[in-house]
This record gives sequence, structure tokens and C-alpha cells, in this order.
Amino acid sequence: MPHALEIAGMVCPNNVFLAPMAGYTNLPFRQMCEELGAGLTFTEMVSAKGLHYGSEETKLLLLHGTSSLVAEGSVCPPPASGVERRTMLNSPVGCERAAIGALASATGVAAVPAAATGVGEGVRPQPIAATGVGEGVRPQPIAAQIFGSDPEIMREACESEALKDFDLIDINMGCPMPKIVKNGEGSALMENFSLAEKVISSCAKSGKRISVKFRVGISEDTKCAAEFARLCEGAGACLITVHGRTREKIYAGPCDFDEIAAAKNAVNIPVIANGGVWNAKDMQKTLDRTGADGVMVARAALYRPAVFAELTGREEPPLLPLFLKELEETERLYGERFALVFMRKMAAFYLKGKRGGARGKQRLFAAQTLAEVASLACELLSFE
Ligand SMILES: Cc1cc2nc3c(=O)[nH]c(=O)nc-3n(C[C@H](O)[C@H](O)[C@H](O)COP(=O)(O)O)c2cc1C
Repeated sequence: MPHALEIAGMVCPNNVFLAPMAGYTNLPFRQMCEELGAGLTFTEMVSAKGLHYGSEETKLLLLHGTSSLVAEGSVCPPPASGVERRTMLNSPVGCERAAIGALASATGVAAVPAAATGVGEGVRPQPIAATGVGEGVRPQPIAAQIFGSDPEIMREACESEALKDFDLIDINMGCPMPKIVKNGEGSALMENFSLAEKVISSCAKSGKRISVKFRVGISEDTKCAAEFARLCEGAGACLITVHGRTREKIYAGPCDFDEIAAAKNAVNIPVIANGGVWNAKDMQKTLDRTGADGVMVARAALYRPAVFAELTGREEPPLLPLFLKELEETERLYGERFALVFMRKMAAFYLKGKRGGARGKQRLFAAQTLAEVASLACELLSFE
């Protein structure tokens, strides 16, 4: 059963976490997952270099419920997104392809030609209305994820204003995207233990709680979860998340529970198991086989955010009101243009495997206004 989890003095209401997902885990989505039961949510990965160079777009990825940016109703451009690609709608594996586009937006790397995305062109900054978020006390801790490989720039990011309100900062050491790896970032740090150690210890000097998310290894022959877990703990991390697949596997195939278990047995800090949790049965199996302190859920949350209600033993709420609330919040924070693209995509996720889902997706993608998306959602999602 889910239980509260303490991480270096920070208490999460439960041990079922929402994973960082580039292009998806924006503020309204994270808030919805929290309401559904997620014990801790992570922003998508943001570039430490982007923060160093003052990129407004990078800062925007770090909006949270008490952001002064949000509360003050500042001018805020919708996040660029390269993620509107139909491939992602067809299978869970499609998400990883979408991630390439989304990561490109986070990193400024043009992974797909802008023309192919249909978004981000001619989009103007939009004023954000006073939102109502940003006031009051946060109900639970929040986490951000950063990536980079320069120890000083990473530490500077941890100390930055943009990250000041986050209770935990996670370092991405698992990203398989070639453009990231080529820069020596993400999973490349698992091939360079000494630099990984420097990055973590430099970040820990910021005084923030630091966690690391990594994979069981680069390839089947070079699995090293226990060794890397020890390195993280020794360098000052207070939490690790182990994705049970190698970099070579990207997001496909079963997870290696033995490797996650080895990491758990190697350290005294909490260990979160990630990969392949789609329902309560998967979660139990993952916890039993790894001995981990909790689980982190990624793709299941896109297709069925109510998975958090299932995993935390709550009654699953109907989908439609959640969808409409997310739509409203997304528009309010990021503007109609972004919300249209994003919410069409989210609705399409929800339709996967449903009767008439393929036709529903076509109709959604033909929608030109948010009102149309809302009305189609009422028609298509109300059979729940
Ligand atoms: C669309 C997408 C975007 C992702 N973005 C990130 C990211 O920004 N940072 C990260 O550490 N992992 C990222 N991941 C990996 C997930 O956090 C997670 O490790 C992976 O999907 C395995 O979990 P799952 O089997 O529950 O999906 C992403 C995955 C997907 C599908």
C-alpha cells in the first residue's frame, strides 16, 4: 500500500510519483496528477545552460503553483512545442518519438523541422490573466528536473531564482536522446563517473535537496545500477530514481528488477523504481521485486491520469471534468494557441483503445478552437 515517504526532511504524502516528461509535465498537468493522488511531481527536464543564459522559455517550464510570475500575471510566451506529431498518438512507444520533439524545445535543439510541427510559428507572447494560482500554501512538496554536464552551471541553476521554490532538484542522468548524449549530458554521464560525481556534488553544495534519475545502464553488457547508486549517494544525493531499462532499450521492453534491487541494496537513501507501471498490479510487482521505496509513473499518466487514484487507493473520478479543468488552466497559463495544440493531444491520449477512438482523434485534430476541443471532449469522453 502507498505510504508517506520522507526524503531528507521533506515529507511526500505518498510514494507514487509522477515522472518528468518533456513536453507534458507542465503546471496544469502536474496539478491534475497531484489532485488525483501523485505524492510528488516533477517538471520536465530543463536546461541548466538555458537558465544560465536567462532563457525565458526555459524559465516558463518551471512555472509552479506559487510562481510569482504566475501570480503577478506577467507576460509569458507559450512554450514552444515540437510535439504535435501524430506518431505519438498511436502507441506508448510513440511518446518517446514525441519526446524527441519536446526535448528539442526544451534544449533549443531543432530535432524536427518547424514546418513539420505546425506549432511554435508566429506564436506571440500572451498576457496571462491573474490566475488564482500563486496564492496560498502549497499542499505538498514539488520537484524540478534539470540537465547539463558543467558542474558550475548546474550548481548555479540549483541556486537560481527560477528553482528557488522547488523542494527537490532532480538531475537527469538517463536521457537517451542523441543530441543530449552528444553534449555529454543525460545518460552520457553514466559513461563518465568522475564527471557525474562532480556534477552531483557541485549541485549538492547549493544546499538544495538533490536527487538523480538514471537508468540501469547503457547496454545489457554494462549494467551498473548499484555502482552508480553508490556514486550518487556518496556525492550528496538524497534520493535516486532508477529507470529499469538500459539506454539502448530507450522505453521498450520489460524492466530489470534485479538491477533496481541491487541499487536499493547498495544505498541508504530512498530509491524509487521507474518503468512499466500501468496499474496497481504492476506497481505491486515492481515494489515486491525491487524492494524500492516507491514508484515513478510516466506514460500511464498520459493515457490515464486517474492511474494515480488507482495506485493510491482512491475512487477513480470521471475523466471529463478533469479534462475540462486542465484545458481551462492550460489556456489561462499558456494562452489559447498552445492550449489548443496541447489539449487536442491530451484528449487523443484518452481516446486510445476506446470504441470510435480513431475517428474521434481525427475530429479532434481538425478542431481549430479550444471551444471546439471542449465540445468534442464532452461528446467523446462523456461515455466514461
Ligand atoms: C514523452 C516523454 C518525455 C520524457 N521526458 C523525460 C524527461 O524530461 N526527463 C526524464 O528524466 N525522463 C523523461 N522521460 C522518461 C520517463 O520519465 C520515464 O523514465 C520512462 O518513460 C519510463 O517510465 P514509464 O515506463 O512509466 O513510461 C520521458 C518519457 C516520455 C515518454
